[in-house]
Parts: sequence; structure tokens; C-alpha cells
Amino acid sequence: MNLIVFVGNAVPPKPVLNPQPVMSTPDTHPRLEIRNLRRAFAGREVVSDVSLKVTRGQVTCLLGPSGCGKSTTLRIIAGVEMQNSGEIYVDGNLVCDTVHRVPPEGRSIGLMFQDFALFPHLSVADNIAFGLKGSKSNKRARVLDLLEKIDLTRAIDQFPHELSGGEQQRVALARALAPRPSIMLMDEPFSGLDERLKDEIRDSTLDVLKAEGTAVLLVTHEPDEAMRMADEIALMRDGRIVQQGAPYNIYNAPVDKAAAAFFSDINVIRGKVKNAMVDTAFGAFLCPGRPDGTEVEIVIRPQHLRIDFDRGGRGPAPTPQDGTPARGIVERARFMGRESIVEFRMDFDGSVLHATVPSVFLPKAGTPLWLMLRRERCFVFPA
Ligand SMILES: Nc1ncnc2c1ncn2[C@@H]1O[C@H](COP(=O)(O)OP(=O)(O)OP(=O)(O)O)[C@@H](O)[C@H]1O
Ligand SMILES: [Mg+2]
Repeated sequence: MNLIVFVGNAVPPKPVLNPQPVMSTPDTHPRLEIRNLRRAFAGREVVSDVSLKVTRGQVTCLLGPSGCGKSTTLRIIAGVEMQNSGEIYVDGNLVCDTVHRVPPEGRSIGLMFQDFALFPHLSVADNIAFGLKGSKSNKRARVLDLLEKIDLTRAIDQFPHELSGGEQQRVALARALAPRPSIMLMDEPFSGLDERLKDEIRDSTLDVLKAEGTAVLLVTHEPDEAMRMADEIALMRDGRIVQQGAPYNIYNAPVDKAAAAFFSDINVIRGKVKNAMVDTAFGAFLCPGRPDGTEVEIVIRPQHLRIDFDRGGRGPAPTPQDGTPARGIVERARFMGRESIVEFRMDFDGSVLHATVPSVFLPKAGTPLWLMLRRERCFVFPA
């Protein structure tokens, strides 16, 4: 048993305020609100009690693994799929429950899916103007305004086949935004694009969406995309939203091990509670309120391990931030470009831990090194 006990373990860093505050609106209703949506296919529930609000000017990402029910949720909101129960409100007005059903075209919802097929026989201008009503001059003004926003004014008279994939994507975005929908629903809208183009197009799409002030619900299975785009992430698993919050808070205070693992590789240190503490190679962790004998898992991301050198069989001095150091033997080290990943076999119990270092650090296999856990970055979950 290590002697040092630190009281500060498993307290997540302070949440930061949303860096892009939601724009104030004259009415207090969220643009989109869904309550208790359920949908089953052949007796299997794929959307279970999903509730969500999206405010004007805000991007919410519905994030989750393949098959968890994201697209089904979006299709129900769009009105192309029907829920078994639950309600959908747009700007505070009920558009669909099991009795009333406003058709898709009456819901003030813009859609952009993965296969955002433009009309091949229409010019860029006519594609964007397609869903617009009103006078010719008003339509023209809106088309010119959007072309400027997507930075494609020069392509006004071109046809889709004359544009690159990224340019077509921007035109599809402009087409969906043209009628000023209250809400934009986007289902993996970047997945068809060249990997190297994606980040640039994500950023420019975000600029346009913010400039338009639309509320956006974007579906993705890529955590990086959600972190990059979202004001708020709704993490979905097996038809349910398991956690919702700003990207920073979801990343730094996950509800469970699976939520932590969805965003990065994780290390898991197992132990059993005794006297409200768990003894590990890194000292004791407090587990208040958990009865003796409870199996717990301490989760830490590889970038939150610190590596230090061996000083003739001794490690660095313990600190309140990093707890007690523990020795491990390097099994292998790999250079990944932006960072190096070092794999350790721990002396304490033979378990394997991974640490990432943001530089070239390639110790030889067999080298003894010391590891420390950044205590405030550890999460303790019941096993
Ligand atoms: N019309 C349907 N009939 C029967 N099963 C369906 C239907 N639509 C969806 N499903 C099932 O519902 C589950 C959820 O599908 P959904 O398309 O919503 O997943 P997803 O989260 O969007 O996944 P992905 O990331 O792969 O697109 C899947 O198991 C799918 O097979
Ligand atoms: Mg899908």
C-alpha cells in the first residue's frame, strides 16, 4: 500500500463557458425541440426516448457509432420517417406528434445529406434558387448573397459537373439555406469529401451557418468533426442520448468509460475499493461512497500520463498534481508524426499502459521509465 493519498483525484477541470454564446432571440422558444422520440422497426427500438433542444445560431452534433439511430432521428425530424411516440416542435409550434403531422415541406427545415445531389441540368444560380418563392429580383438578390457567403460568385453560371466536390458541397449548402429554414438538418454532409479538404470545408461551412443564424443539427460518427463544429454535442448510443454538453465538458467529464473511449484511446487501471480507496501502482485513489469490494476502473487518456527518467532505480518525487510515480518497462515506441506513442509494461501488476508524447520520443524496448498520472484528468467509474 502506498502511503500517499491525494484528495484531488477525479475532479474534472472547470467547465469553460461556451466560446460562441447563443444569439439572443426575441422569443424564448428553442428553434427545434424534440421530446421523448421513439421508433421501433420490427419490434426493435432503434430510437429510445430521445429529447433535444437546438437554439438559434447554435450547432448541435448528434454523435455516435454506426447504427445507433442518428439518421433515423434526423429522418423523423425531417418528416420522412414517422415516430411511434414523442413530439417535435419548431419555433415552439408542434409540427408532429402521433395525431398531428405537418408534411416535410411545411416544417421550415433545410436538409443536407451525404449524397447532396445537385440538379445536373441547372446552373449554380438555378440550383440555389430552386426552392425560393417570390419575385425574380428577390430571388436573384438571395442567390447573390449566398454565392458571396460561399465564395463562389464566379461560378454563378456554371453547371455542377464543372465544379469540384468541395464546390458542389458549398452550392448544396447554399441551396438548402436559400429559403431561410428555421433549422438545418445535416447528415454526415462531409463524408463524401477528400480527407485533405474536409477541415477547410467544415470551417467555411460553419462560417456560413453562423452568418445565417440558423439552428443546426448535424449528424456524424466522427468525434473530431463534432469537436470542431459543435457548440453542443449529444452523444448517442443504442438509440439513447447518453450525454449532452459543450465539447470541452463532454471530453473532460465523460459519463462513463465508453463515452471517454469514444473520443480517444484510453488507459484503464482496475482496482477494488477498500475503506473508500483504491490502491494502484500510482498510489491510492479516493472512491467516496463506494462500498468495500466494489470493482472500479480508473480511466486516463494517453496524453495525460507524464513520463520521467529512471534515476538508478528511483523515480521522480510525488506531487499533489501527479500523485505517486510508478515504474514501467518500455515494450515499444512508435512515431506517429505529430506525436509518439510509448507502450509500457508496469512493474506493479504487469498491466500495459500507453502514453503519448507530442514530439519524437522513441526510447528502446527494455528501457525502465517512470510514469505519473495527471490526477485531475483521471475518471473513476464502477467496473
Ligand atoms: N426502415 C428501416 N427498417 C428497418 N430497420 C431500419 C430502418 N431504418 C433504420 N433501421 C435500423 O435502425 C438502426 C439505426 O439506423 P440509423 O440509420 O439511424 O443509424 P446511424 O446511427 O445513422 O448509423 P450510421 O452512422 O451507420 O449512418 C440500424 O440498425 C438500422 O438497420
Ligand atoms: Mg446514418
